[in-house]
Amino acid sequence: MVQQSRHELEDDKFAALVQAATEARERAYAPYSGFKVGAALRGESGRIYKGCNVENASYGLTSCAERNAVFAAVQDGERRIVAAAVVTETNAPTPPCGACRQVLLEFAGAGEMDRDMDVVLATLDGARRLTRLSVLLPDSFASFDVPGD
Ligand code: THU
Repeated sequence: MVQQSRHELEDDKFAALVQAATEARERAYAPYSGFKVGAALRGESGRIYKGCNVENASYGLTSCAERNAVFAAVQDGERRIVAAAVVTETNAPTPPCGACRQVLLEFAGAGEMDRDMDVVLATLDGARRLTRLSVLLPDSFASFDVPGD
């Protein structure tokens, strides 16, 4: 067997997710910003869920790709997400907006919440950045249970 570097193994691990996010991006409805975003999530079940951004003439009603992917997963019966990918056509990979980070956190992790969930950010021409939700959303709010109360 040909030995693979850690980088190549990680690429393999996320290749299907990045591919799904790339496909989702093609369906983006972004006539106002021209900025198409694709997202894909791997559920605990192993299934992959896609989302794209959907804009509106009333700009503030726009819905981001990442949140649309989360809602697609949940409405399909998935409750836990183990990895997320985001694809944009930019020079550097684009991290998700703050609101989407918070919505991802709600369902992050297999079985129980995992703030360290893998998030892979990719560009159409192949740039990759592998990060974690805890890096994107440090010191996060996830419960009404206040420690010490
Ligand atoms: N957008 C996303 O879909 N995800 C993000 O995390 C950031 C922004 C979309 C919203 C809007 O359609 C366009 O990108 C420009 O903000």
